[in-house]
Amino acid sequence: MGLRRNAFAAYEAWAPESGRLIEEARRYFPGGDTRMSAHFAPYPLFIESASGCRMRDADGHEIVDFMNNFTSLILGHANPAVVDAVSTQIATGSAYAAPTRNQLDLARLLTERVPSLEQLRFTSSGTEATLMTLRCARAATGKQRIMKMEGGYHGSYELAEVSLAPVPGLCGPLESPNAVPIDASFPDSVLNDAVICPYNQPELARALIARHADELAAVIVEPILGSTGMIPATTEFLLALREACSAHGVVLIFDEVITLRLGDGGAQALHGITPDLTAMGKIIGGGLPIGAFGGREELMRVFHPDEERPVMHASTFSGNPVSMAAGAAAMGQLDPQRFEQLNGLGATLREGVDAAFRVNGIRGQATGAGSLANLHLTDAPLRDARDSLAAATRAGSIVQAVHLGMLRRGIASAGRLMYCISTPMGAAEVELAVDALDDCLRELRPEIEREKPELLL
Ligand SMILES: Cc1ncc(COP(=O)(O)O)c(C=O)c1O
Repeated sequence: MGLRRNAFAAYEAWAPESGRLIEEARRYFPGGDTRMSAHFAPYPLFIESASGCRMRDADGHEIVDFMNNFTSLILGHANPAVVDAVSTQIATGSAYAAPTRNQLDLARLLTERVPSLEQLRFTSSGTEATLMTLRCARAATGKQRIMKMEGGYHGSYELAEVSLAPVPGLCGPLESPNAVPIDASFPDSVLNDAVICPYNQPELARALIARHADELAAVIVEPILGSTGMIPATTEFLLALREACSAHGVVLIFDEVITLRLGDGGAQALHGITPDLTAMGKIIGGGLPIGAFGGREELMRVFHPDEERPVMHASTFSGNPVSMAAGAAAMGQLDPQRFEQLNGLGATLREGVDAAFRVNGIRGQATGAGSLANLHLTDAPLRDARDSLAAATRAGSIVQAVHLGMLRRGIASAGRLMYCISTPMGAAEVELAVDALDDCLRELRPEIEREKPELLL
């Protein structure tokens, strides 16, 4: 395809030093990649340093970072208070295998803000956090199967990824989607454990929960479908999950690893719906590796050391004082006004994106909420991962061309065109991104006319 070839050629000419470094990386890592989500074709930029909302790459380009390590850097890079807190902690020891005061600081802050958290525990990643919520639910209910949403992502293990990409022909009927492996590593036992629920379909969800109630330990849901298009759940949908779980003795888990950045109390406070357990990560670590999970004391009791057989939760770096120090320093800077500013800029970004598509006569839109956005090359409504995946498939390499074209214009996003706002950003940075998109779409329009005329308005 000419469009893809041209996009790669322009990018490679613009970032030769990263191109040279990826050659060396290919000696050590399969395909030069040690983290799938941060890799993209033809190769990612090597970053040398960053401060605030700007990064410097190996070729010396200044890049405004709308990716923020997949939404985790809500204060941007190298926030001074976080740098101070981490430096102080590291200089006095990075891990003691003992409790520390700063665990209490972060625990206090989170339990005061997030409605569902009566008690919590720390982990080293969001992956471990969601995993431990599932173990908690199983131990507390004595049941085994887990309902997850089609298109939902909860970390790097099989059950957290089942049916992440609802491929047509494999994903089954919307009323009762198949549990589909996303690669060849999935054992059948994991697929059998999963019950897949369509997103944003309250009545179908109620029926599925009722049908499987006797075997379901938990329902886990992201209040915004983050990895498959930043599609917000409706309150009606989350309420249906809440009511059905309460009615049938199923533990409701909100995965707020991303959505905690929507406001002081996360998405649960905004919707006014309290889950039984909540998984967190990303922003609560101030840029360092972290996760946390918690909820009703009665459920969290399964981890109590005085229980006869407490649920095993260890992990060498759980609650390490450096992540605690960074997290407390970061979260302490966030208050309702800060969230309002971030969310206001997010709305401006989404409106600007919609306008850039319109002005250039190309079908497109931004989904998301608060400080989160995802660009899609369709003007049709997007309700779930089936919709967003179908749109991405139709758009083909245009998604890649927009991503690489934006990088060349100094704007970083995820390869799937996910953007988010950090506090060092202001109206000027959002305007830069929108202007860059406008310019990028203008450049691509003749190629879209030639290769994908159906995407023109
Ligand atoms: C909603 C959600 N849950 C869980 C995770 C896993 O978190 P981590 O990458 O810290 O393991 C992610 C990561 O992107 C996520 O987006």
